Amino acid sequence: MSGKVHRFKEVTSTQDVSRRLLAEGTAREGEVIVADYQTAGRGRFGRVWRSPIGGLYATFICERSRLISIRTGVSLISALERFGLRARLKWPNDVVVDREKLGGVIVEEASGIALVGVGVNLDRSPLPGSTCVSAHGVKIDRDSLLQAISVELSVELGDDELLDAYRASSATIGHRVSVVRDPRTGPIVGIARWIDDRGRLLVETPDGVRPVASGECFHLRFPAVDAGRFARLS
Ligand code: BTN
Repeated sequence: MSGKVHRFKEVTSTQDVSRRLLAEGTAREGEVIVADYQTAGRGRFGRVWRSPIGGLYATFICERSRLISIRTGVSLISALERFGLRARLKWPNDVVVDREKLGGVIVEEASGIALVGVGVNLDRSPLPGSTCVSAHGVKIDRDSLLQAISVELSVELGDDELLDAYRASSATIGHRVSVVRDPRTGPIVGIARWIDDRGRLLVETPDGVRPVASGECFHLRFPAVDAGRFARLS
C-alpha cells in the first residue's frame, strides 16, 4: 500500500470516512484514512472502540481477498516487531501482549472493496485488561507505525506462507478456549488445535474437532479437566 494518506483530526470513525470518500470518488484502493481521534470508533460485534488522542486509528482501502483479515493481522505483528515489540494474535485478529489487548482489526465491505480498520493503543490503555505500546517500554510514533503497516501489507506472501506466519504468531493454538459464534447458541469449548487453510479455528471438543469460521474467542484459564465441566454447565 503506497497510496495517498488522507489525514483527519476528528472523525466519527475512519470506517465511515473511508466509505464516504470511496462513494464520492475522492479515495480509492491502496489509500489510507487516518485520524487523531474518533468520536464513534467501532470494534467487532458492534462494540465501541475507544479512540482517544495518541492511538493509531486507520482504515486501509484494500482489494477484497479471502485472507485479508489474516493478512492484516500478520502485517500488524510484523510492523510492531520492526520496533522491537513482540505481540501475538488471539484468534481471529486481536493483537495481544501477555494476554492483554493492544490492538484490533475490523474488516467491512463497500462496493466490493475491503475497508480494513486497524486500531492500536500507543500511549494509553483505554480499558481495564487492555494494554498499550508504551507500557512495554517501547516508543512508537503513530506515523512510523502506519508506514510500517502499509509496507507489510504490500509484502506479497502466498497463502501458505501467510497462514504459516499467522499460526506462528498465534496466541490461541494450544489454549483452552470458549468460542461464541452467536450469543443465542452455546459456546464451543475445547482446545484450540490448529488454524486451517481457510483461517478457521479447529477446536477439539469432547464431541470431536469443530471448525469455527468466525466468532469471539476467550482463552480459558481452567485446567483441562474443568474445560469439559465448563462445557456441560454452559
Ligand atoms: C476490534 O478488535 O474489535 C476491532 C477494532 C478496530 C478499531 C479500528 S480504529 C480504526 C477503524 N475505525 C473504526 O471505527 N474501527 C477501526
